[in-house]
Amino acid sequence: MGFLPFPPSTTPAFQRLCLFVLFITLSFIPEHAFAATRHYKFHIKLQNVTRLCHTKSIVTVNGQFPGPRIVGREGDQLLIKVVNHVQNNISIHWHGIRQLQTGWADGPAYVTQCPIQTGQSYVYNFTIIGQRGTLFWHAHISWLRSTVYGPLVILPKLGVPYPFTKPYKEVPIIFGEWWNADPEAVIAQAMHTGGGPNVSDAYTMNGLPGPLYNCSAKGIDTLKVKVKPGKTYLLRLINAALNDELFFSIANHTLQVVEADAIYVKPFETETLLMAPGQTTNVLLKTKPHFPNATFFMTARPYVTGLGTFDNSTVAGILEYEPPSHSTSLSIKKLQLFKPLLPALNDTSFATKFTNKLRSLANAQFPANVPQKVDKRFFFTVGLGTNPCQNNQTCQGPNGTMFAASVNNISFALPNTALLQAHYFGQSNEVYAPDFPSNPIFPFNYTGTPPNNTMVGNGTKLVVLPFNTSVELVMQDTSILGAESHPLHLHGFNFFVVGQGFGNFDPNKDPANFNLVDPIERNTVGVPSGGWVAIRFLADNPGVWFMHCHLEIHTSWGLKMGWLVLDGKLPNQKLLPPPADLPKC
Ligand code: C2O
Ligand code: CU
Repeated sequence: MGFLPFPPSTTPAFQRLCLFVLFITLSFIPEHAFAATRHYKFHIKLQNVTRLCHTKSIVTVNGQFPGPRIVGREGDQLLIKVVNHVQNNISIHWHGIRQLQTGWADGPAYVTQCPIQTGQSYVYNFTIIGQRGTLFWHAHISWLRSTVYGPLVILPKLGVPYPFTKPYKEVPIIFGEWWNADPEAVIAQAMHTGGGPNVSDAYTMNGLPGPLYNCSAKGIDTLKVKVKPGKTYLLRLINAALNDELFFSIANHTLQVVEADAIYVKPFETETLLMAPGQTTNVLLKTKPHFPNATFFMTARPYVTGLGTFDNSTVAGILEYEPPSHSTSLSIKKLQLFKPLLPALNDTSFATKFTNKLRSLANAQFPANVPQKVDKRFFFTVGLGTNPCQNNQTCQGPNGTMFAASVNNISFALPNTALLQAHYFGQSNEVYAPDFPSNPIFPFNYTGTPPNNTMVGNGTKLVVLPFNTSVELVMQDTSILGAESHPLHLHGFNFFVVGQGFGNFDPNKDPANFNLVDPIERNTVGVPSGGWVAIRFLADNPGVWFMHCHLEIHTSWGLKMGWLVLDGKLPNQKLLPPPADLPKC
């Protein structure tokens, strides 16, 4: 500091008084006075993009693919104006943001808002409370999130350090899927024929498929992460793929996992990561102490448990060390290239081991506030099923039916208006029923031989919860049309993953093994293929909160439902009034 706090002539007593007054003043300034308001503009527009020798016009934010990075600090208010210049209706979801009292800004179309129509705009207005880490944003209507997505980075409050080595640099890596066809046509066709959708043509890292694909240029179509030796890098990894969980690894490097879904975790080392769509993971990468005379592939490919066809290709990027200054002529091309070994495509044992390593940091500064008592218990089956063929011919789903997916055998139908609006304006009667079942209506051996009748029911039903209900939810995969891992995402909350297992959940035995001390806290969890997962959360956020499989095709087929959390008594326990520019249907 280059200045004196007081003129040298003042008495010590006066100085003490001044300090006291300063202290008192500071302690009365509310915390958010130090937070910023950050403005962003998202212009939804078409852009020509070329990948795998296919040039096509895609829906983007500001012409960028992937979309722009949003950066804020814990405590900041974000105001993001979205202007729709394309023919498609659009809405944007801030995946993992809690949206305390601001459900109107959550984004899922027909759930918390009507979509933004052509020529219209909407300002998403929310404050980041009690969260820091990596999340992402994406379109939340139909399959537009295939091209409309980007990182959302929440830094700690100013002056608050990370609970791990300060990284030299931070690098977001966002995984996606690329279709040579128009993804909107792909899902429209699948919903019409009742069959499975065409799979993607490539996986991407920061929008780039990399050198393992035909007609993918080694130069511009490959993600290169340039690093210096002997430094620590923070990789902010985001799985924004539509339908695939992904393994990820960097050749000859170990990664230290420090955060998941914007929650600090007990650090652990691993060669390979597994991330479901909707999940984010921060890892520390310690680079080698000396220039290694080599480059290293970073690759990702899917973890697959279902029976359908899938994109079994591999995306690769390159970790490239900056050559030492005395060897500027050194050609990267001549360097040896190392490739990582990824687990087998169906390596469920790896998946289990990996998820079991994830634990909340659970220390004094970052406690794990696991609900210790439960007010309401729910048991939901999640899985596939069928609907009768709609187009009066034979459909391309199982035995001429149409594929469907459900929660407690209800395939959720989105209404023509937004659920939150219907609730807030007291027009719920025609829009939804408040009677979503807490348990399967017809219990069966969920993971045994499936029942002959695979037909689902269809409806728009919500669970209604009083404010501050402590919820325990067990989600059970079914073997109907094949057991499959389902990454379930809950809007508006983080939950604690207190238990998981294979086969049918046993309410008499399994709860004894629940971890109520340091379970991982997150917003998206994989229901194990042929197994179950138990989560707990406190319903302390009023609004309508979507919950769905983050495999987009399963959401399209109906693997989704909603929780309606009622207002509490206090003013800060109520949903704020809707913004004036809230879109109309
Ligand atoms: Cu990332 Cu409802 O989704
Ligand atoms: Cu699913």
